Amino acid sequence: MDVDTLIIGAGAAGLMCAAHADGRVLLVDHAKKPGEKIRISGGGRCNFTNLHAGPENFLSANPHFCKSALSRYTQWDFIALVEAHGIAWHEKTLGQLFCDDSATQIVSMLLREASDAGAELRLETAVEGIERGPDGFTATLVPAKGHRRRVFARNVVLATGGKSIPGMGATGFAYDVARQFGLPVTDIRPALVPFTFPEKRFAALSGTALPVRATANGASFDEAMLFTHRGLSGPAMLQISSFWREGQQIEVDLSPGLRLYDHLRERRQSHGGRNLTTELAGVLPAKLVQYLAAPLGLTGNLADQGDARLQDICTTLHGWHLSPSGTEGYRTAEVTLGGIDTQALSSRTMEAKHVPGLYVIGEAVDVTGWLGGYNFQWAWSSGWAAGQAI
Ligand code: FDA
Repeated sequence: MDVDTLIIGAGAAGLMCAAHADGRVLLVDHAKKPGEKIRISGGGRCNFTNLHAGPENFLSANPHFCKSALSRYTQWDFIALVEAHGIAWHEKTLGQLFCDDSATQIVSMLLREASDAGAELRLETAVEGIERGPDGFTATLVPAKGHRRRVFARNVVLATGGKSIPGMGATGFAYDVARQFGLPVTDIRPALVPFTFPEKRFAALSGTALPVRATANGASFDEAMLFTHRGLSGPAMLQISSFWREGQQIEVDLSPGLRLYDHLRERRQSHGGRNLTTELAGVLPAKLVQYLAAPLGLTGNLADQGDARLQDICTTLHGWHLSPSGTEGYRTAEVTLGGIDTQALSSRTMEAKHVPGLYVIGEAVDVTGWLGGYNFQWAWSSGWAAGQAI
């Protein structure tokens, strides 16, 4: 069988590429259904892009690499596509756009676009071995049912994503093929992932959430934090997990919007007879105040606390230092940080500089977005850029 382009991976980037590549396109995926991560994303409503998406929202060894694709296929282009398909959407917070109804609308939209462009989709089909010849590539397709067959393709697009959530069929396939063809792969690690702590340290607080400013390795995010049985989660923690490294502390400002020292001094004057913990429970979750009461020695009335004592307490609450033992790993990570080294790729076309006809798109590339619709925008932009070039 001969095709112009074999796209491996019918996820966000692969489907987008299939909708834009010219010629005979075969899109294969080993999963039973296409776009499964789209379907489960954003709590089933898919945070499909971000109004503020720009290169500054991405991590990569080369922060300039993503600029070309992001500026040529923007969030506005994707919003126009969503609207052309009559999909209703809304902004939830911080520029994050979600479907009003269901993430499956995005999957259906991309399948329609790919099929209108003439791409053929084969599911439950793994790819075993890719060889390069003078005019292109020969790949062995292994369907779950039926016979294995060889396919010749002028171009091969690696769109198999990263390693996050192996339970959903994520593999290191793209990295293996990249290495086979001499493309370097950076260190990779789970990102946008909850932190774990020894001895289920926060189990008693599980389910408690509050807005915080979380800082790790110089990066700060003002978002919600959630205590879990295993440790800390919520958008603020997922965001800084992409910056944190083993052995480092994270810093949590438990009251980023209110200067506690000023507040407590004021309250001491007007309500000196009030219990310190009762007062703090007016600005922080009561369970958290209870949890912190013993280690911080939160006893007595407001009037009992001198300025220096109040300052001490507030300094700790505005800068709570914590040492995670690790993260939940690829099992629950939303993305893989790192990937195929951008030095080996053209930022305009996503084609390997030294392997003509080999393209890499989406999460497999060393471009990782923040939480908030940025990773899908990268999948759309890089998939489109490769599709345009093919
Ligand atoms: P993706 O993972 O989408 O697709 C890869 C495809 O390749 C899959 O269909 C897989 O089956 C297939 N494949 C893998 N190995 C293969 C092999 N060896 N052979 C054949 N096929 C193979 N991002 C965002 O912007 N907004 C959001 O709301 C969310 N929410 C979210 C929730 C959860 C739970 C997760 C895990 C992730 C998110 N993300 C997200 C991240 C986002 O899903 C992710 O960055 C993109 O799906 C990446 O798109 P790709 O097409 O690169 O990979």
